[in-house]
Amino acid sequence: MTHDPLNLLQRPRRNRKHPAIRAFVRETSLGPEHFIYPLFIHAGDDDVPIASMPGCARLSRKGLLAEVEAARAVGVNLVALFPAVAESLKSPDGREAWNPNGLIPATIKALKDRWPDLVIVTDVALDPYNSDGHDGIVAPDGRILNDETVEALCNQALCQARAGADIVAPSDMMDGRVQALREALDGESFIDVSILAYTAKYASAFYGPFRDALDSAPKSGDKKTYQMDPANAREALREAELDEVEGADILMVKPAGPYLDILAALRRATHLPLAAYQVSGEYAMLKAASERGWLDEKRVVLESLLGIRRAGADVIFTYFARQAAEWLTGARK
Ligand code: PBG
Repeated sequence: MTHDPLNLLQRPRRNRKHPAIRAFVRETSLGPEHFIYPLFIHAGDDDVPIASMPGCARLSRKGLLAEVEAARAVGVNLVALFPAVAESLKSPDGREAWNPNGLIPATIKALKDRWPDLVIVTDVALDPYNSDGHDGIVAPDGRILNDETVEALCNQALCQARAGADIVAPSDMMDGRVQALREALDGESFIDVSILAYTAKYASAFYGPFRDALDSAPKSGDKKTYQMDPANAREALREAELDEVEGADILMVKPAGPYLDILAALRRATHLPLAAYQVSGEYAMLKAASERGWLDEKRVVLESLLGIRRAGADVIFTYFARQAAEWLTGARK
């Protein structure tokens, strides 16, 4: 079969014809340095697998050290800690969040003893500690109290900073918490502790497996009076402006995959570095389809992470951090 060639001046395929050409026209990179590894911890002696997040567990101290060691071996040197707290330690004001002998401060110290150069990110929000399961303090009439919560969050962040946290990450979505945290930290001379603000955190159904992992689902109501409406984009820009003037060092969009437009919009709107959180539900979807053999796990996971980078994320919170870094470094097939 012979064919007269089309009379085309432009043939974009010429730039895809050879791996060496594809290598230099590639616009986005993905490496272990782009990952923050969220890890669930608890006070128990065993690692307890999380059913809806295959490959993740509530880690004991020993399990945590082993996991961090394995992650560092493939270049992941940023971890974010999420505690599962016994029901008996939860209270309406969440005061366990700033117990200097609590699980988080003790874990930070243990990690820093072993690896002084490990970068530790801590979550600032009351939900693991709050008997109501909300990120903020709940009034008798069910409202989430903003300003009282911000005061509690400052106590929590100071407790984390005193223990050695490098980056505090408020995920609560209260108004004014970034400035209050900055002032509280600076007031105790923690001028080098960074604030990674969950700037555009949506009231998303994709957090389901995380709340199973921590038993932290709200006991009543939902989080829609503080987390953002998935229908809104302009509001994310407003939140970004506020977090920036309030002193945030890094802004975050969460979830990641279904909100890439928000990430791209923030990329254009700010000069600050951006983070994105590939959340538990995104992880669960990719794992489930891969387990069934419906998707090629390595390829879809790396593609999903590359897409988040392409949209504008400098760094990605992902439960795939260790696994993806193993693939990227050749340590895993
Ligand atoms: C709560 C918090 C949540 C996540 C991180 N911090 C859950 C929520 O807002 O209910 C979700 C992370 C995930 O789903 O992976 N402060």
